[in-house]
Amino acid sequence: MCGIIGIVGMAPVTARLLATLKRLEYRGYDSAGIASITENGLERRRSVGKIANLEACLNDDPLVGFTGIGHTRWATHGEASERNAHPHISGKVAIVHNGIIENYAALKSELREAGFEFQTETDTEVVAVLIDSLLQSGLEAKEAVGAALKRFHGAYALGIMFESQPDVMYGARKGSPLVVGIGNGEMFLGSDALAIAPYTNKVIYLEEGDWCRLTRESYEVFDSEDKPVMRKVQTVETEEDSADKGNYPHYMLKEIYEQPRSIAKTLQAYTHPVHGTLSLPKDATLDFDFSTVSNVYMISCGTAHYATRVAEYWFEQIAGIPCKTDIASEFRYRQPALAKNSVALFVSQSGETADTLAALRYCKVQGIKTIAVVNVRTSSIAREADVVLPTLAGPEIGVASTKAFTAQLAVLLVTALHAGLSRGTLSEDEFETHSKSVAEIGSKVDESLSRDGVIRAVCELICDADDVFYLGRGVHYPLALEGALKLKEISYIHAEGFASGELKHGPIALITDKTPIVFVAPTDELYEKSISNLQEVAARKGPVLLISDRKGVEEAGGAPTTTLEMPDCDQLIAPFVYSVALQLIAYHTAVMRGTDVDQPRNLAKSVTVE
Ligand code: G6P
Repeated sequence: MCGIIGIVGMAPVTARLLATLKRLEYRGYDSAGIASITENGLERRRSVGKIANLEACLNDDPLVGFTGIGHTRWATHGEASERNAHPHISGKVAIVHNGIIENYAALKSELREAGFEFQTETDTEVVAVLIDSLLQSGLEAKEAVGAALKRFHGAYALGIMFESQPDVMYGARKGSPLVVGIGNGEMFLGSDALAIAPYTNKVIYLEEGDWCRLTRESYEVFDSEDKPVMRKVQTVETEEDSADKGNYPHYMLKEIYEQPRSIAKTLQAYTHPVHGTLSLPKDATLDFDFSTVSNVYMISCGTAHYATRVAEYWFEQIAGIPCKTDIASEFRYRQPALAKNSVALFVSQSGETADTLAALRYCKVQGIKTIAVVNVRTSSIAREADVVLPTLAGPEIGVASTKAFTAQLAVLLVTALHAGLSRGTLSEDEFETHSKSVAEIGSKVDESLSRDGVIRAVCELICDADDVFYLGRGVHYPLALEGALKLKEISYIHAEGFASGELKHGPIALITDKTPIVFVAPTDELYEKSISNLQEVAARKGPVLLISDRKGVEEAGGAPTTTLEMPDCDQLIAPFVYSVALQLIAYHTAVMRGTDVDQPRNLAKSVTVE
């Protein structure tokens, strides 16, 4: 969602603001803008659509200043238009914002009554106008920031500049993340550490309610009661997986192909360095024992939620622990009754998803042990959970999650195996056998990738469809849900996933010769039942794509289907193998339809508002 960059620089900042906005494109946005303090005072340039439009606008009409803020906007209140794009300026104040000011309507009418005017339909503009009104009432800039922040309900990460203070910038966070970057004679604000990575690796993660005042040489941080506070300066590791596409046409394809490596890297962190056995990382010492855990809850959103739905089968089947998965936006308001001695896992690529973070806080208040399964070690969810089980997928730039999903599966599988061993539902021998299968995941995923050409060819079956259904049983049911999500996200084809057994309870009414059905059905104990469902669809002339292994494809011979043969593998690791097929189907279909694969319309990578 909205990306923020701020620089108090010792050289002109426009080029760096623009370069950063390009790096933030992956978060999802529909307009962008930059403001700087130039010799004419506060000036800004804004445009709708891609950053290239803003770049063109800056080429025609450059901005030269040493202090500046930049923003990519993902519209919430008010359409994506130049007028609604950030930065917003009121009088001598310019601001950028990520989040939602929930009481904006009340503040707006109060300020209107006081004679202030508004130019936009956004919630954000009240921030600029309120600070401006406080300045006009005689407060100093710093006092005005402190006073204004106390009036806002909702979530915000803010970057604020005053025309009267060309070498100063203010930042504030509540709900939405914001980092301060400490450079060499320069200071930065960023919506995440990746934003400012090229400029500095020394960062301060502002805490809830914190705000800050930055000059080129100094920073001060204040808490929500305006008391000066010390916050830890952290050195963030530079990610070795660079955030560029290499020779791939899209980040998504690059990330799909990175999976053998990202899974291996993740599993390596879960392998004992001396004995070579699977185990939880040393620094993730659990202060509880899975043998005494009564229930496991897993809370997450989007693709991460489907990873937990797969893992739900593992925790129950392997470790015999009652397990429940939840969508974070529902969980957080449902006031769920949580069993004593339970453990809650929060699975998130970004570690910043607003609903997942709120659900984590709910569990902490309830006194439940919290475990974060996150890809960004320094994220809010990682920092607030009791224990972190990292996924080591590296930066994921494509909006549609791929390598983060399989890394999440890997961590959840190892955790379920660990729980099974602790509870005695798995013997040492069984654990060893499963560990051998886990060790094969990387090579099986690699083998799956080698079928890319065939996978691309089968996409002809679905690329012109208006609706596509995905069916599966057991762990392949949540995989079907994930396959459908991937397809709709990037190809804009309406796609739904169903449990194959539910076919007769509704979805079958939708089957025509124009609705392709993708069956995910390797030869496990449920294969025959899946094939019966496949026959039912075929009998109604639905075009079928069966994704199975060699035996499954052979045995389905005769049914009027297109088949896609995936590598044979142990059933435990089949979700990894079949994910690759579903990801590539979505990818190639989207490419055939000519959509913007890496930045699909309306979607954001990191959903930091509710
Ligand atoms: C957005 C992204 C999805 C992601 C979901 C949850 O919807 O587009 O790819 O799965 O958020 O994000 P998280 O960072 O918590 O995994």
